Amino acid sequence: MYRAAVWGASGMAGGEVLRILAAHPSIEALCAVSRSREGQPVWHAHPHLRASFPDLTFCAPDEALKQEVDIVFLALPHGTSAPLIKEYLSRGSKVADLSGDVRLKSPSDYEKWYGAAPAHPELLEQAVYGLPELHREALKETSLASGVGCNASCSILGLYPLAGAELLKDVRIEVRVGSSEAGATPTIGSHHPYRSRTLRLYEPFRHRHLAEILQELRLSEECVTLSMTAVEMIRGVQMIAHISLARPVKEAEIWKLYRAAYSDEPFVSFCPARPSHLRLPDPKLLTGSNRALTGFVLHEDGTRLIVVSALDNLMKGAAGSAVQSANLMLGLPESEGLGMIPVYPA
Ligand SMILES: NC(=O)c1ccc[n+]([C@@H]2O[C@H](COP(=O)([O-])OP(=O)(O)OC[C@H]3O[C@@H](n4cnc5c(N)ncnc54)[C@H](OP(=O)(O)O)[C@@H]3O)[C@@H](O)[C@H]2O)c1
Repeated sequence: MYRAAVWGASGMAGGEVLRILAAHPSIEALCAVSRSREGQPVWHAHPHLRASFPDLTFCAPDEALKQEVDIVFLALPHGTSAPLIKEYLSRGSKVADLSGDVRLKSPSDYEKWYGAAPAHPELLEQAVYGLPELHREALKETSLASGVGCNASCSILGLYPLAGAELLKDVRIEVRVGSSEAGATPTIGSHHPYRSRTLRLYEPFRHRHLAEILQELRLSEECVTLSMTAVEMIRGVQMIAHISLARPVKEAEIWKLYRAAYSDEPFVSFCPARPSHLRLPDPKLLTGSNRALTGFVLHEDGTRLIVVSALDNLMKGAAGSAVQSANLMLGLPESEGLGMIPVYPA
């Protein structure tokens, strides 16, 4: 068994890493790190994990650093991962970060989107963006996988076959997100009485996940916009992209592109053309799984296309992709421990 430390283990994404590791055949959760819950049973923060971890207690950061581990999951707020990445890499551990600290390649992009220079710019160069569908071979060779933005990964997975074919002329992305995206600590925007039944649009144009979309799809900011709407879900991200294509296409060409991109992917699949109510994906179909789904509708003029994709933000949009990347870094089968079937209806 490979030994893992999970930092930010009292939070939403850290809890989801623990849920995956609870049933992982080759990686065990050796320590679950929390500053605020040191000594408490893990299941006090994550009651659904009581039977899986009856005896595991949260450990303090300095205790965690005394443990030798093979792989570290850093489910920490932005800005707090980088020093730990340095520390663990120097000890020879593999690192799967979940934060935004090393997602962007260019230090100037980082400064532009995060408002400050990166603390360790050399890590940006070293990290491989943690989406195996785009970087499978590089992840097998690296010791550092970056986190992925849940909205970014949903958008990237939906659009990369079209970007690869240079079909994207203009893309207007709307993302709808559930409340678990905001993490475990309520804020004025995420606290239930304010957020419930909301349709609140936030960060049009400037959401940081746009930087990842541009980087991974190799698009320029002039031709892509991203807006986010908080909707009545707990888990789930749905992306709707209104696209002007670079040239007119037939529907068969789009089917062919997606089939070629997804046919060998263990976790990404394509919606069927029929029945019509299943042609475009609903995140409700994916709850609790590491799966992503994409569908499209082409306008009869052949140049206007709507692409919709969906995933569970805590799984394929965070912990699931992190474990998938960890499997690759450790030389394990990529899908190991990630075969959860979605819960439906949820
Ligand atoms: N939620 C999602 O859907 C999602 C999706 C993709 C990526 N992510 C990324 O995953 C990371 C964690 O997100 P989350 O939603 O799980 O947040 P969260 O629920 O707020 O959990 C973060 C945890 O980190 C610990 N922490 C907070 N400040 C810290 C500090 N300065 N130093 C060390 N530990 C600290 C906290 O635990 P203690 O106070 O107990 O130590 C907290 O439980 C973020 O970077 C986020 O961007 C989240």
